[in-house]
Amino acid sequence: MSNALFKEPIAYEKIPTRIFNDPREASKSVAHEIADLIKLKQQEGEKCVLGLATGSSPKTVYAELVRMHREEGLSFKNVVSFNLDEYYPMEPDAIQSYWRFMKEQLFDLVDIPKENYFLPLGDIPQNQIEDFCRSYEAKIDDLGGLDFQLLGIGGNGHIGFNEPGSLINSKTRLMMLDHSTRAAAVMDFGGELIKVPKKAITMGVSKILHAKRVVLLAWGERKANMIADAVEGSVSEHNPSSYLQSHGNVLFVVDTAAASDLKRMKSPWLVEDVIWDSKLTKKAVCSLALDLKKPILKLTNKDYNDNGLSDLLAGYGQAYEINIEVFNQLQHSITGWPGGKPNADDTNRPERALPERKRVIIFSPHPDDDIISMGGTFQRLVDQGHEVHVAYQTSGNIAVSDDEAIRFIDFVVDFNRQFGINNDETATIFENAKSFLQNKKDSELDTAEVRHVKGLIRKGEAKNTCRFVGIPVENAHFLNMPFYETGQVQKAPLGKMDIEITKDLIEKIKPHQIYAAGDLADPHGTHKVCLDAIMEAVTHLKHKNFMKDCWVWLYRGAWAEWEIHEIEMAVPMSPDQVIQKRLGIFKHQSQKDGVVFQGSDAREFWQRAEERNGVTAELYNKLGLAEYEAMEAFVRWKY
Ligand code: F6R
Repeated sequence: MSNALFKEPIAYEKIPTRIFNDPREASKSVAHEIADLIKLKQQEGEKCVLGLATGSSPKTVYAELVRMHREEGLSFKNVVSFNLDEYYPMEPDAIQSYWRFMKEQLFDLVDIPKENYFLPLGDIPQNQIEDFCRSYEAKIDDLGGLDFQLLGIGGNGHIGFNEPGSLINSKTRLMMLDHSTRAAAVMDFGGELIKVPKKAITMGVSKILHAKRVVLLAWGERKANMIADAVEGSVSEHNPSSYLQSHGNVLFVVDTAAASDLKRMKSPWLVEDVIWDSKLTKKAVCSLALDLKKPILKLTNKDYNDNGLSDLLAGYGQAYEINIEVFNQLQHSITGWPGGKPNADDTNRPERALPERKRVIIFSPHPDDDIISMGGTFQRLVDQGHEVHVAYQTSGNIAVSDDEAIRFIDFVVDFNRQFGINNDETATIFENAKSFLQNKKDSELDTAEVRHVKGLIRKGEAKNTCRFVGIPVENAHFLNMPFYETGQVQKAPLGKMDIEITKDLIEKIKPHQIYAAGDLADPHGTHKVCLDAIMEAVTHLKHKNFMKDCWVWLYRGAWAEWEIHEIEMAVPMSPDQVIQKRLGIFKHQSQKDGVVFQGSDAREFWQRAEERNGVTAELYNKLGLAEYEAMEAFVRWKY
């Protein structure tokens, strides 16, 4: 294929797609489009018929609409809305119900009349569902159809709950949910798959496609491959979102992570003219070498010319010049001295040699991310004599099973009994917790006592890891950030207190190195909030003297990994060090053998970590660098 053909701007994209750096900015633009439509309809004295979605994606859109209602007087009096779906069976006031979601996120916070919003009913007898669905569609038709349909997208490409296999002309109906959809929802159901309904009532694909305007939102890497498939692939029932290719007025609004598999992001040089800086050059060369299955130093002029990289080649003159530059960058990112190598005067090393003994804070969003994501590096920093502190940002209390909580309280009761310690109070806590947990309804949150117990279990595990790696327990700091303490998956927004707590610790330790989770693919969104807290704190503190000497490294690992061209520090691990890290992860017993928040990956955390670290090492090797067993990867945040 000729280069000219490759260079057609966004030629591969069959659905208009806008990419935003930040989902909040993206949501604002969508909310503004909706608000403008509502206002336009108001001016014309008409109703505005909206199709609405639930899930994590539209929350920020609703929040912006609510803000506009409160601060700018946006009225919803002329809005009539129809939601896409509801679990079946589902009581409307259960915490997982979409009725409740919509009331809490939007309807109860704006002036939409109660008789103007409709959702499928999850509590009607099964034999009435067909009639119900027909009248749901008829109601939409009577109003002249949907003016605007807001959509999310499932990790399997579903829109509404039209799972893969749904036909383009499918009607509103009762649907069996895909296993992956149920697994993705498990967090909302106390982590127990068995409690996730097997069915849902969903608006059909056909009604969605008849909306006058459709906007689909997608945030996060989890959605990246389905977005790329829908936008660039062919229309197929395997990915129902691809049906939107046939809609004349559709827009995908995605963040950079959800866009990351699109060609214009993955290989922009194949899509449009690019300005070659060293980052893009590294990305292009790594991807060329991996695609051609050749080590970098063996790439030839012909390889560059044949694969849309002739302008890059022209800039350098010879493939060898590009190859050696990128090879050296990769070579220099590898270090067994994550805290800097004493006496090394090589400025190409990822860390500075001085000071020889650094103060380090590893921020760990949950009580196990430190060891899962950077356990090998943690161990090296300790072994190489640095003063290492770990800051556990949240208690992680929602991810402990009920019977673990009972087991631990039971242990305390027996312990007290054994040693003649006054047992009355613990026995009461135990009895209360036990009877609460045994009768706990799906919609009920844990009591404060149970949450404390669950938090203590995770704290104990984290302390155990610290002892295992070899830092004094006083260097383990439990921040218990307040935003997390809602007792449910839905967290509060990042607050002042969260940032203050983070700032205080940084000021106290005055670190030369901070490690933070830049792993934004975690399904709970907690990592992102924890990173925001650190970024805010660092931004506040950056003018202080000690901060001038502080470098921030971002790790990933539990849910995703940095791409090879992004990595600025790669810390290798020997086979023995991999086993050592595994044993460290095992200290988190409550997160093993049937973990509460598994996500859609059925493997245990140690398996995922080993696979990711193994793959990073393998990629380095494929590019022609030394062959290591495993590697942990970091990117520097230059604040
Ligand atoms: C929700 C719905 C679903 C979700 C999809 C993505 O009403 O119909 O299609 O939009 O499952 O969910 P989130 O946004 O939570 O990833």
